[in-house]
Amino acid sequence: MKIVEYPHPTLRHQSKPLKKIDADLRRTVAEMFHLMYEAEGIGLAANQVDLPYRLFVLNLSEERTQEDEMVFINPVISRGKEPDEKEEGCLSIPGVYASVRRPTSIHVSALDLRGHPIEADCRGLLARAIQHETDHLDGILFIDRLVETTQKEVQDDLDRFKRKFQQDREEKNIPPDDTILRRLEEIESTYCR
Ligand code: NI
Repeated sequence: MKIVEYPHPTLRHQSKPLKKIDADLRRTVAEMFHLMYEAEGIGLAANQVDLPYRLFVLNLSEERTQEDEMVFINPVISRGKEPDEKEEGCLSIPGVYASVRRPTSIHVSALDLRGHPIEADCRGLLARAIQHETDHLDGILFIDRLVETTQKEVQDDLDRFKRKFQQDREEKNIPPDDTILRRLEEIESTYCR
């Protein structure tokens, strides 16, 4: 398992809700935390490791302690009205940072890894991280939410990622889009509603 980079097609996949949580899924989640720590990120969505599961992991603590690990399965969020603008980055577009406007507060409903319901009102970094990760599950990246002037500032970087992906596809035999999609659909048929 590894973190895929923009413009990998799985990053544009809209995940369907998970219908079962089993030992394999728990192992996948443990590996996602591992990859996230290795990359020094605070959040990671399943699309980012080329999986169609509607789940993401977060750990906002400096110490990366296990007690601070959060898993959100099938998250549904309702957004507050008060907007806020802060810089964001993404492990799938490493090195690119830009200011993104999002509501300061949200309410999130989800399941944890034991299948227990989560209901939480969140603000600040937690609210922002949950919105960023839930976007991933809908195939949306933070670069889609930039104002036009900021979008222009990151365009060269994004073009560089596109060229690198093309080159990787040729050299490392990354399968064509439809093969990637078929694999996602196969996993979905077992795990998703
Ligand atoms: Ni991200």
